[in-house]
Amino acid sequence: MAKIAILGYGTVGSGIVEVLSQNADLIKRRAGEELEVKYILDIRDFPGDPWEDKVVHDIEVILNDPQISVVCETMGGEQPAFDFSKRALMAGKSVCTSNKELVANHGAELIALAAKHHCNYLFEASVGGGIPIIRPLISSLTAERVTEICGILNGTTNYILTKMQEERAPFGELLCRAQEKGYAERNPEADIEGYDACRKIAILGSLVTGKSVDYKEIYTEGISGITPEDFAYARVLGDTIKLLATVKEEKDGYLAAVAPALVSEQNPLSGIRNVFNAVFVRGNMQGETMYYGKGAGKLATASAVAADVIDCVKHQGKHVICLWEKEKIELKDFSGVKSRFFVRTAASDEKKAEELFGTVEKVRLDSLPQEFGFVTQEISEAEFQEKTKQLPGFVSRIRIKD
Ligand code: HSE
Repeated sequence: MAKIAILGYGTVGSGIVEVLSQNADLIKRRAGEELEVKYILDIRDFPGDPWEDKVVHDIEVILNDPQISVVCETMGGEQPAFDFSKRALMAGKSVCTSNKELVANHGAELIALAAKHHCNYLFEASVGGGIPIIRPLISSLTAERVTEICGILNGTTNYILTKMQEERAPFGELLCRAQEKGYAERNPEADIEGYDACRKIAILGSLVTGKSVDYKEIYTEGISGITPEDFAYARVLGDTIKLLATVKEEKDGYLAAVAPALVSEQNPLSGIRNVFNAVFVRGNMQGETMYYGKGAGKLATASAVAADVIDCVKHQGKHVICLWEKEKIELKDFSGVKSRFFVRTAASDEKKAEELFGTVEKVRLDSLPQEFGFVTQEISEAEFQEKTKQLPGFVSRIRIKD
């Protein structure tokens, strides 16, 4: 029997207990042995909870117990999760986590530590909640040179954008709903401003390059500036708006960015609704593949952690190679990156817009006679910023997904 410990009895931690007990029989057959949750570490007590007798408050109990072979870290945040994970790995205990902040910051170091101590550091649940995307990248697509990943990697913002489009509900109300459903981070700014998606694309970028993508160097923009009026324009263009996280190999280096974009209805990412996430992957041999599923929520995320636990049990005493080195990969300077933009500006700017951007395709809404929208040609970020400074009535802009 394999004995495991869970660090943090919150949404995901309690979900793991539920998954492991509800599917205990088939998990036993698939893992080759029974899995037992021996400890749950939390600072709180849970009187009346069926698992209350498993709760401990001291990490030493877990680290010093030779029976524990796998630790699930579902505490979130940097510390003490980082110290606990390192110490567990040094004790030869595999660690499975949903903690994207920790993985994005220290993935290379923790994987190296696991290799040194013949155990594993697995993090399927850190990207895309329940969607299998890490395992496809590190096992199914290992013969591919992955040249592009473009994904909807945050459930909260996709839920908000979907409802903004379909119900025209106000932003604040939608965020509350996402929080009630357990999708949002403790600090929802991480979702709204794109930081969560940024960490996730840094993890995917590190796996495809085999080096470390520093999330602090990724251009990141969230959805707090997106309004129902933007969706009204998008409808006229036959598009929708999605928060896209991208990493792409170009001739002169890797581009990485997180930003909202107008996505054509022909693009499969446009049909991803509510809390669902999707990751589009382009490989040099296989071409395009896409991975889709619930990007957040208790059981979806917990199931991904539980699958990692089973993998660790199947590979006890053996480190499964995952190429992610500490050396940093240099990203392309975002100011030189080219896109087409949709621009909203005052009706009085019509002549100026043509002078700056040439002949442009214009879009007007009856409900907004004081302004108009137009689509630019492909232009660099720096050049675009320079030109929009000269538009006196500039309202907003959004990039167009190519
Ligand atoms: N807050 C995250 C999201 C949870 O909404 O996608 C899953 O990482």
